[in-house]
Amino acid sequence: MSVAVLFVCLGNICRSPLAEAALRQECTASDLNIIVDSAGTGDWHAGQPPDERAQAAAARNGLDIGHLRARQVTPADFRDFDHIVALDRQNYRDLRAMQPANARAQLSLLLDHVEGRAGEDVADPYYGEDAAFDQTWSEVTDAARAMRQRLEADAVA
Ligand code: 4NP
Repeated sequence: MSVAVLFVCLGNICRSPLAEAALRQECTASDLNIIVDSAGTGDWHAGQPPDERAQAAAARNGLDIGHLRARQVTPADFRDFDHIVALDRQNYRDLRAMQPANARAQLSLLLDHVEGRAGEDVADPYYGEDAAFDQTWSEVTDAARAMRQRLEADAVA
């Protein structure tokens, strides 16, 4: 059995590609059969690779994300994924508004998965410095660890 997880931010070039890479990396040594993807609520960057600064932050942590391409989230994603994880509360509200009645996907906020951070946003690093991207990386890796543990527990339940 596999589990499919989609991370969603605004542009799909900064935060959600890093979350995608972090969860994929977190699960490499796991028995979980996991499918991970990311998308944006907006379409301005569709077809583009991650922001150079996001690519650099991933590279500082040993990961190449240059092959990823941005896309916009679609109603079909609510059928195709088990979990859709919003990076901030505005993304969450936008996803909630487009959620079809027959959605399979469970919608959550990324930092709700991290103890003590429930209800918080992963801040948009787009107008920030490199340090903002390292902060994003730190937050998405914390969440990826917690999500991997939760998904493994769910898989044996
Ligand atoms: P992301 O960051 O949502 O983390 O991918 C952004 C990327 C682009 C824009 C805003 C946020 N933008 O306004 O183009």
